[in-house]
Amino acid sequence: MSLARGILGPRKPLHTQGAEQGRELRKTLSWPHLIALGIGAIVGTGIYTLTGVGADRAGPAVILAFAIAGAVCACAALAYAEMATLIPTAGSAYTYTYSVIGESVAWIVGWSLILEYSLACSTVAVGWSAYLVGWVEAAGIHLPAMLLSGPHAGGIINLPAVLVALAIAGMLIAGTRESATFNIILVVIKMTALALFVALALPAFTGANFEPFMPYGFASHVEGGTTRGVMAAAAIVFFAFYGFDAVATSAEEAKNPGRDLTIGIIGSMAACTLIYMAVAFAAIGAVSYVELGKSAEPLAYVLRMLDHPLAAWAIGLAALIALPSVILVMMYGQSRIFFVMSRDGLLPRSLSRVSERTGSPALITGVTGVFVALVAGFFRLDEIAELANAGTLLAFIAVAACMMILRKKMPELPRVFRCPAPYVVGTLAILGCLYLLFSLPTHTLTRFLGWNLIGLIVYFAYGRMRSVAGRKAAGADS
Ligand code: ALA
Repeated sequence: MSLARGILGPRKPLHTQGAEQGRELRKTLSWPHLIALGIGAIVGTGIYTLTGVGADRAGPAVILAFAIAGAVCACAALAYAEMATLIPTAGSAYTYTYSVIGESVAWIVGWSLILEYSLACSTVAVGWSAYLVGWVEAAGIHLPAMLLSGPHAGGIINLPAVLVALAIAGMLIAGTRESATFNIILVVIKMTALALFVALALPAFTGANFEPFMPYGFASHVEGGTTRGVMAAAAIVFFAFYGFDAVATSAEEAKNPGRDLTIGIIGSMAACTLIYMAVAFAAIGAVSYVELGKSAEPLAYVLRMLDHPLAAWAIGLAALIALPSVILVMMYGQSRIFFVMSRDGLLPRSLSRVSERTGSPALITGVTGVFVALVAGFFRLDEIAELANAGTLLAFIAVAACMMILRKKMPELPRVFRCPAPYVVGTLAILGCLYLLFSLPTHTLTRFLGWNLIGLIVYFAYGRMRSVAGRKAAGADS
């Protein structure tokens, strides 16, 4: 065995369908489900809540931040689409890295994906809780403050966030098909609310709200104890764009992966980018970025400021009903990543048992739900979102790298979807993701490093010895 292979670990065969007897996921999803999964995962707390955090960090230039994050994600989405159709098995970035680079790097990517999906769920749960509180308070009902936020904000626990996370985990345990269909209804509600927001906010557009456009400059830097600048905002509103990778994660359950995944990923990504630009432009045009930055439920806040209490009530309600769809898709993605890692032997195999009745990996979904609920109950929204972003950025870098490596090493493979100008797009995706990653606050990067160090300990103490691919490679060597 070469030294490089010894360090990188064994690779999984490229065209593995991943299916072993009794560990196969059912093929229940077609492209409308996948587009709905994509939009369901993409449009959420990023636009409903982080628009305010972004405005606080970049001023009106949060719109530029959305454009930058969207452009980086578009490059990553193209690489994803090529890889997802080439290797249509569950596990997305983790599986691609396993087949193209090797097990140890794949482990780091998988471990980062666990962070991405679970913390994204927690972030959305906290954003949802803020909309719930605003909505209920607007109706004159006051809930006990101690149960509405974690210790960082003077409370004990963010109970609404905990409950919504646990409820979604329960839905997923009940079965994929029902959840995905229900998701379509939620997506329609969410999109209608955003259209209503733009229609009501645009007439109040004031050009003066865009002056100064970049009050904190471009590059990420610490100012007044907060990380600010357009790139600092881009690094957090990046959260608003991902989710299409959750579609790739469900490849093994797609009826016709080649066609359906391409439509699912590219379609949902393009639609969402356009909608975001419109919403952010309308919000910043309607109220001062300073005010926007202070609100935990900025879209409802804008409508209240514009004297549309009924519409504010409606958008709050839509957020309450629909944001859980993001948690649903992300938690679904998370449980599938866990599922594949355990099927590969890197995590305990008992975790990958699929329920005979519902076809879903029940145990792992339950574990995920509890973890998500605990984080949502006790931590700050922006800090959770930033850490989720760090995990996602690493996964995107891995996917773009895998796409380019495979183009070089195996140009002859039949590709259902071919990323245009692959080396340019792949390089832009990697450089863009690195720039976003290093625009995150230092404490986020430190925590991310810590998470991966723990991951490596788990890998060397457990997974490396039990890996299915590792044992096959050892058998072949001897
Ligand atoms: N893109 C998803 C959201 O904004 C994660 O909520």
